[in-house]
Amino acid sequence: MPDPSPTMQRLTITRPDDWHVHFRRGAILRRAVADTARCFARAMVMPNTEPPITTAARARDYRAEILNALTTSPAADKNFTPLLALYLTDETRARDIVEAANNDFIVGCKLYPAHATTGAAAGVTEVKKIMPALKCMAKHNLVLQVHGESTDAGVDIFDREAVFIDRVLAPLQRDLPELKIVLEHITTEQGVEFVRQAGARVAATITAHHLMFNRNEMFRGGLRPHAYCLPVPKRERHRRALLRAATGGDPAFFLGSDSAPHPRAAKESECGCAGIYSAPAALELYAEIFAKAGALDKLEGFAGHYGADFYAQPRNSGRLTLVQKPRRIARSLTVGEAEIVPLKSGEIIQWSVADD
Ligand code: NCD
Ligand code: ZN
Repeated sequence: MPDPSPTMQRLTITRPDDWHVHFRRGAILRRAVADTARCFARAMVMPNTEPPITTAARARDYRAEILNALTTSPAADKNFTPLLALYLTDETRARDIVEAANNDFIVGCKLYPAHATTGAAAGVTEVKKIMPALKCMAKHNLVLQVHGESTDAGVDIFDREAVFIDRVLAPLQRDLPELKIVLEHITTEQGVEFVRQAGARVAATITAHHLMFNRNEMFRGGLRPHAYCLPVPKRERHRRALLRAATGGDPAFFLGSDSAPHPRAAKESECGCAGIYSAPAALELYAEIFAKAGALDKLEGFAGHYGADFYAQPRNSGRLTLVQKPRRIARSLTVGEAEIVPLKSGEIIQWSVADD
């Protein structure tokens, strides 16, 4: 149970997990690992690196890189556990899945429709091409993690999630109901509705930024590249549906920040890339969102229980305390040669992770 303090100034919860992060490689990886491991016990690390994590051997190397970064980070909890996913391509075969499933730390495979988002160029062109791999995943209890956006150029960008659900996801779930699916970073009421009616083998992650912002944020006073991510935030009606889902205590919805660092130059450019770096304050922002919604008592399940349960991982035994103590987020972070502008850059947020 959360701390029953009547003023809710402090909240002690099961140490949380982040079920969707991007760590990249090199200097950015070291920074992203440190920022995530300061409060999350585990993170589901997405495989859209350069080159993508398409084999178990690459996943093993990438995990070693992450663990090595941990040892050099003073702020990180050394017990932090990275969980990895295989990047599905048209070439992924059942034997690749069997090999992946032989590694305890690989718990899912990521379906990026080809060219749907950052690092998705090698993604899947048609789901039917990977049906043998998907069947094998169901057999070996690997979770299918879906970037749910249609890539049909004729589909409006704000409709891509809803269209993907109708054309690809719902038929796939009908054909292979035994497959566990996470619809990642949902942004629409159609996403919420699909997950609610799909049964216990389907869940969704929800980011802090999609709970905070509707699509106006990308155009607030001018064009804001640092608010641009995929799937793009939608109308206010959809944000409210997400908020109800996240704070409603339904175990089908859990925390996945989609923290996705990019150098400032790659975002502030002629063709700025998608991705928001939220790890420096992701958990604190979720606390702020839940507090504002009068649902702090629902944060523990969303952040620390439901994701672990869905992935059939043990719940964390450690605890973590959040305090209602304002903190200013850095305007920008120097990371190796690059500069990264975090979510809420230069702004004051209302919650902090307690030191004890
Ligand atoms: C992610 C990235 O930068 O890797 N970008 C994003 O806008 N969310 C990819 C993704 O999860 O779509
Ligand atoms: Zn992502």
